[in-house]
Amino acid sequence: MSGPVDLRSDTVTRPTAAMRRAMAEAEVGDDWYGDDPTVNLLEERCAEATGKEAAVYLATGTMANQIALHVLVRSGHLVVAEAHAHVATTEVTSSAVLSGVAFARLTPRRSMVTAAAVEAALKPDPYGVEVVDLLALENTHGHGGGTVLPIGEMRAIRKAALSAGVPVYLDGARIFNASVASGTSVTEFAAEVDALMFSLSKGLGAPIGSVLCGSASFVREARRAKVLIGGAWRQAGVLAAAGLLALAEGPQRLHEDHANARRLAEGIAEATPGAVDPGEVETNMVFVSAEALGREPWEIVGRLREEGVLANVLGERIRLVTHRDVTSADVDAAVAAWRRIASDVGAPDLRASSSPR
Ligand SMILES: Cc1ncc(COP(=O)(O)O)c(C=O)c1O
Repeated sequence: MSGPVDLRSDTVTRPTAAMRRAMAEAEVGDDWYGDDPTVNLLEERCAEATGKEAAVYLATGTMANQIALHVLVRSGHLVVAEAHAHVATTEVTSSAVLSGVAFARLTPRRSMVTAAAVEAALKPDPYGVEVVDLLALENTHGHGGGTVLPIGEMRAIRKAALSAGVPVYLDGARIFNASVASGTSVTEFAAEVDALMFSLSKGLGAPIGSVLCGSASFVREARRAKVLIGGAWRQAGVLAAAGLLALAEGPQRLHEDHANARRLAEGIAEATPGAVDPGEVETNMVFVSAEALGREPWEIVGRLREEGVLANVLGERIRLVTHRDVTSADVDAAVAAWRRIASDVGAPDLRASSSPR
């Protein structure tokens, strides 16, 4: 299909022909009553894939995170999380409103949480006023650049949390990307947390859905909260059918997205030295500084749009995300577009900006 090269997010993929067929033919029931066989099968497979006892299929990753916080954190208590984590930024008002939850924020380099920082953050408040109920991790970390929190560090973090008596939750929206990039299985990552969610609708390529996984008792409570927030749906098997294909087939092609992201970064770095370090691209996200062109990120995003390339801005940087609907030729087209913009805009006079005052 021709159209813009859409690098805004890996959520933009369209269902494949096989997914559309599976959706049309899905066996369904009423999921409120727990009798949609396709949803039930998807939940079983997701529990298996994460090595957890049970799973619950939900509309969005935000809903999964919010239900997890609602179940695991008491109103007025704190969640320790990295400052730029999705739960602590985009969703911060959701958890304030839905669950009365507040955050204690960690600010490590490149958003890479360490066991030492966790240990310090989980020291009990001597006055007993600030109570931490949960440590929330994110892997891969979106704002950090699609970075992988390595299993060694996760194990050390888990140990620190256990000795402080604090459970660990993982926003694993892109845990399959982390798994493919690191060679660590999803079950190994999941073993270091009490509960986790992952998205079928991102790199795995389903049109909709995320899954919350954990112990049977946690998932029982999560199902109650799902009803409470109006998330209980009915013949959701039409969506779960696509989710089953995403789970079965999505992970094995993620390495292509990672290779495309790396090549995109290399092309941009060659055109504009200093705009991006390809060595920092671990998965399917490329973060580019517009400063190297002496321009504001949104201006460059506007120029890219005129060139048929869609991008986003996160923080101070332009974010480009590869996914199933981005081909190798699309990467070439995006790099060519960047080159044209770079040569049109011209390099800034770095000597002027770096000269001592
Ligand atoms: C790390 C992370 N967690 C959670 C979410 C929320 O997922 P959804 O958009 O399905 O609500 C996102 C969305 O991009 C995300 O990047």
